[in-house]
Amino acid sequence: MLSAQNISKNFITDNKVVPVLKNVSVDIHDGEFVSIVGRSGSGKTTLLNVLSTLVRPDGGELHYGTENLSALSEKRLNRLRQSDFSVIFQFHHLLPYLTVLENTLLPFMQSVRPVKKAAMEKALGCLERVGLADKADRLPGNLSGGEQQRVAIARALVKSSKVLFADEPTGSLDKGTGEKIMGLLSELNNDGLAVVMVTHDPVYAKMAGRSVHIEDGVIV
Ligand SMILES: Nc1ncnc2c1ncn2[C@@H]1O[C@H](COP(=O)(O)OP(=O)(O)OP(=O)(O)O)[C@@H](O)[C@H]1O
Ligand SMILES: [Mg+2]
Repeated sequence: MLSAQNISKNFITDNKVVPVLKNVSVDIHDGEFVSIVGRSGSGKTTLLNVLSTLVRPDGGELHYGTENLSALSEKRLNRLRQSDFSVIFQFHHLLPYLTVLENTLLPFMQSVRPVKKAAMEKALGCLERVGLADKADRLPGNLSGGEQQRVAIARALVKSSKVLFADEPTGSLDKGTGEKIMGLLSELNNDGLAVVMVTHDPVYAKMAGRSVHIEDGVIV
């Protein structure tokens, strides 16, 4: 369904070109649960960002279904991301001046129109699923790190997308909450959502059907 071929990505640091992804090829099939593992700095986040189209690669091709994403305009990519992709970032990126509920509703806020009642109910349902329904009216600054992470997860669940990209979704959570979140991801995957998850945790990595190991920008 999502196919990356010979992807390369360089970053410029101190006027030097540093290759971060070197000829990486990965296929994600319909409804698959794939984990991306590897040491800190190996290129996991960069690979996830390329797969979710947030970062354009310097070389190689990305295909989604019959579409060649490498050739799509930013506008068409945006539309595709909105309809099919959800992202849980490594650092939650919650907006500090919006409440927990409003942050969860963000994917539905496309202009300054009020959100529909159905969207509101969906968002509350997602907060319920991550155990935060009672904190819907709080501001993120008044939540713990793990709670903020769970809001970011609720926000990613609120749309009915086809692929969920998650960058260390359990990174800042205690064991119990982490396990709950992993259970939730497995449940969503069983419902048909494809999940691509970066993780440091070997136990969580095994919960995915397949692991992709990256070392120094190369799949091993
Ligand atoms: N915007 C950037 N500009 C320059 N270098 C970058 C940039 N983003 C990442 N890098 C470098 O690319 C390499 C891979 O970064 P990436 O964030 O993909 O690693 P990671 O495997 O996700 O690490 P971690 O487990 O610590 O999150 C690192 O050496 C990092 O310093
Ligand atoms: Mg990372």
